[in-house]
Amino acid sequence: MEIYKKPGFFLYVSLSLLLHFTIVCSFSPVDHYLLDCGSTEATTVDIDHRRFTGDAFESGSQFLSSTGTILLRDSNPPPNSSPIYRTVRVFTRPSKYVFNIREKGTHLVRLHFHQFDSSNLNLCHSQFHVSVNGYVLLNNFTAENTQNPIIKDYMIWVDTEKLVITFTPSRKSKIAFVSAIEVISAPKDLIADVAQLVDSKKIEQINGLMRNALETVYRVNVGGRKVTPFNDSLWRTWVPDDEFLKSSDGSTRVYFGGRIKYQMGGASREVGPDNVYNTARLITSLNDSIPNLNITWVFPVIEGYDYLVRMHFCDIASISLGLLYFNVYVNGRLVYENLDLTSLTNDMLASPFYADFLVDEKSSGVLSVSVGPSNMSMSHTVDAILNGVEIMKMNNSIGSLDGTISAESILKSWPSRNTGVPVPLIALVCLLLTASLLIYRRGIGFKNSMAWSPLPVDMSQIYLGHIVGRMLHSPFVPCVTKVYYGCEVEASKDKW
Ligand SMILES: *[C@@H]1O[C@H](CO)[C@@H](O)[C@H](O)[C@H]1NC(C)=O
Ligand SMILES: *[C@@H]1O[C@H](CO)[C@@H](O)[C@H](O)[C@H]1NC(C)=O
Ligand SMILES: *[C@@H]1O[C@H](CO)[C@@H](O)[C@H](O)[C@H]1NC(C)=O
Ligand SMILES: *[C@@H]1O[C@H](CO)[C@@H](O)[C@H](O)[C@H]1NC(C)=O
Ligand SMILES: *[C@@H]1O[C@H](CO)[C@@H](O)[C@H](O)[C@H]1NC(C)=O
Ligand SMILES: *[C@@H]1O[C@H](CO)[C@@H](O)[C@H](O)[C@H]1NC(C)=O
Repeated sequence: MEIYKKPGFFLYVSLSLLLHFTIVCSFSPVDHYLLDCGSTEATTVDIDHRRFTGDAFESGSQFLSSTGTILLRDSNPPPNSSPIYRTVRVFTRPSKYVFNIREKGTHLVRLHFHQFDSSNLNLCHSQFHVSVNGYVLLNNFTAENTQNPIIKDYMIWVDTEKLVITFTPSRKSKIAFVSAIEVISAPKDLIADVAQLVDSKKIEQINGLMRNALETVYRVNVGGRKVTPFNDSLWRTWVPDDEFLKSSDGSTRVYFGGRIKYQMGGASREVGPDNVYNTARLITSLNDSIPNLNITWVFPVIEGYDYLVRMHFCDIASISLGLLYFNVYVNGRLVYENLDLTSLTNDMLASPFYADFLVDEKSSGVLSVSVGPSNMSMSHTVDAILNGVEIMKMNNSIGSLDGTISAESILKSWPSRNTGVPVPLIALVCLLLTASLLIYRRGIGFKNSMAWSPLPVDMSQIYLGHIVGRMLHSPFVPCVTKVYYGCEVEASKDKW
């Protein structure tokens, strides 16, 4: 009997070891939603091997809790574009996606916008607001028609059971759209609750950071190449530092081919991936004198917000422990004197460390970080290092990351319609009004009236399609403005 039991036992052991190994090695978020908006397909496999569920397909359709939206497909997608950018969901009035949250805490929210030309609907008429659980993420946002998709990256504290993303067109003549949505619970150690305040008067610790909404405005891999979501366990993108570097004079890049030694209590792989820690920029002393210079990176920022600056360090360049001491500056202020990575990483080289700084100077327009030799720096060694920087914008006092209007006022700004009247009835009234208006205008000879003369003949279908909520590849919409004639009729009722 034992002979038969043993293989089973071994299988069990190796399976649980394997399981344990995977749990330890790869982060698996409790809440993990990937939606390909406007897609009717089961899943879309991204180049990062991620499966986005179509928001018009079975399980994916539960998240959109609004009707009256439009699906749009790019009939001519660029050959190398990710499949998630081939469809969009278009909104003509406030609409929301609702996600159930199983684990309270910080969540990563990523919104993807990619415009394309469509004969049905012109996405360049988009202008809209986006809010999440009472925080304003985007205000009067217009996704410019660029080759590359626009990806907005947020960290939102969620202490309710739902995360609600609301899209609101700026005006009735505008539309809102989205290409894809990611909602992922963040590892507990991603946002520490404490940071060091960088202020003209004082340097102190600030608590309670976690409960703010953060937008990552820059995520930079210093000295290295772009890191794509494929190589980041939280599917982030890190860009090279060249465009932010004030001057590369006197600094060198370094690449480390060995293993990055993540330690308990230190920066985890989710805080920064191997590809960020294994490259850096350095100041090195080659002879008996210590270079008298700093390396400085400058980031344009929007005034009126606090910023959380995270600097990533990993000594991948020293030949031995205890040789590297340097100073760290944020906005020209000394925030770390004689930073000693050896002692901060329990005497281990190639072990990552990060430091968070809160900058609350609300009126400068730029944010700078520098590293340079300290008066404990030694000759013939590395005298300063930086591996990565992240700059995160924090919500202002009204809970907005974009402007001075609160989520509540945005919702109120949308005129509430005759809520008691059934929608098909409104449609019918609109149609009748439009028809009679047309007859009226024609009758008195207003042939060149901008708003009315180009009305499409088969407008009833457009409007009904819009009411029904799905306008699949409707070939009969020649231009976007005409989709909204129904609303315009409503507005003009007052004048009658
Ligand atoms: C949005 O932009 C329009 C002009 O395009 C402006 O009239 C309106 O006040 C802006 N709204 C907000 C909330 O900033
Ligand atoms: C991932 O990282 C490895 C090692 O740096 C690199 O060779 C590879 O090209 C990267 N893959 C992607 C998709 O970025
Ligand atoms: C040390 O090297 C730097 C260039 O790396 C040079 O500018 C400097 O003059 C040298 N100092 C001495 C004392 O040789
Ligand atoms: C490095 O930057 C700091 C802060 O801006 C400044 O005080 C210091 O003089 C700089 N050092 C050099 C050598 O430029
Ligand atoms: C190190 O520099 C600081 C100013 O940055 C100065 O106050 C201090 O005296 C210096 N220490 C030594 C040992 O020179
Ligand atoms: C961010 O918004 C929250 C909730 O509205 C608020 O408590 C917090 O003070 C805001 N943060 C800042 C820096 O004003």
